[in-house]
Amino acid sequence: MPKPLILSIVGARPNFMKVAPLHRAFAKPDVAALVEHRIVHTGQHYDAAMSDAFFRDLEMPAPAYFLGVGSGSHAEQTAKVMIEFEKVCLEAKPALVLVVGDVNSTIAATLTATKLGIPVAHVEAGLRSGDRTMPEELNRIATDALSDYAFVTEQSGVDNLLRENFRKERLYLVGNTMIDSLHFALPKARQSTILPELGVAPKEYALVTLHRPSNVDDAVQLQALTEMLLDATSGCAVVFPVHPRTRKNLERFGLLERIAQNPRFILTEPQGYVNFLALMMNARFVMTDSGGVQEETTALGVPCLTLRTTTERPVTSELGTNILVPPTQENIHAALRNALNGVFRQDSVQPSVPPLWDGKAAERIVTIILRECLSQ
Ligand code: UD1
Ligand code: UDP
Repeated sequence: MPKPLILSIVGARPNFMKVAPLHRAFAKPDVAALVEHRIVHTGQHYDAAMSDAFFRDLEMPAPAYFLGVGSGSHAEQTAKVMIEFEKVCLEAKPALVLVVGDVNSTIAATLTATKLGIPVAHVEAGLRSGDRTMPEELNRIATDALSDYAFVTEQSGVDNLLRENFRKERLYLVGNTMIDSLHFALPKARQSTILPELGVAPKEYALVTLHRPSNVDDAVQLQALTEMLLDATSGCAVVFPVHPRTRKNLERFGLLERIAQNPRFILTEPQGYVNFLALMMNARFVMTDSGGVQEETTALGVPCLTLRTTTERPVTSELGTNILVPPTQENIHAALRNALNGVFRQDSVQPSVPPLWDGKAAERIVTIILRECLSQ
């Protein structure tokens, strides 16, 4: 009898950190004796800095399947993943498909597999921002509605899924595989030379990432954010590894020249995971609209200003270091002033790491999969 095959789907940057620890847990000899695990890369992200770098830094093998889907409208991208992934499913006949997060590759693979009668487990299930204008929120809702098993990072995810009538006996609070990757890469991050390479010193710069369409696709909003970041350089240097969506828009809206005139505003290509971790650990504070970065800063105890009106990861602001800053000029100015003065939480909460964010989530997931998910 061949061993049951499990396929994990990666496509966009945050997927790699979530799947790498699962692959390591499946590769342990006692587990590998029972099941085979293969990685499918949809090609949603394809630049070396948005994809290859993470295979290297996270020590993941090359994907077994590469679908080469690339960029496109939501419908194009989702449909292309479905067409190509269906071929893989028909040929490989997986016993289980693992999807992570909330990107277009996640919902596309879920739709494809469930329509073929293949069970799907969603890692990072149940998160909800409540904001249906976010493409990710629609992906989360639809993925969870179709998934057979839910692996959840924080209690809010359990509460949301129960409210949506997800089957309680197939819902598992396991912790956060992204934090498993963080634990894995921390020793390498401590050896990184990226700070001197960029000419910055620990705690003397703010680290920025921005890529949400609501912040970067609108010329007026992106210009306002750029001006505020330029102002912030009077208090400390700003290091901004730029996502390709954002770079295209900075170019299109003519903002790159303004930035280039300010030597304390350091624009870089997207960083590899190890260097980015080094930049996060040593930042005075982080400003972001990323999902994953909210979690990692909480795990690292680094203050994080999240330039959004909502978060699907409320534990990071309830327990952690995350402060939600709806991105208007007034709010950001006030938050920046506080951050530059070293003032963060206004309440009495001592930031802590959420329960089960201990670097062992992938092992818990694999144990549950072997016990519960392969004999439908
Ligand atoms: C996607 C996810 C988002 C996630 C983000 C992580 C969806 C709907 N969005 O957003 O949830 O937070 O990834 O980074 O799935 N591009 C390149 N090179 C690349 C990849 C993209 O140049 O390797 C450019 C293309 O112009 C592309 C644009 O970036 O059109 C956007 O890429 P896309 O994958 O559609 O969405 P992201 O903004 O990256
Ligand atoms: N990240 C990285 N290099 C960068 C920016 C982010 O390695 O230049 C990592 C970050 O540490 C986290 C993940 O990418 O692990 C988050 O991805 P992203 O912000 O693109 O997506 P989101 O989490 O918002 O979906």
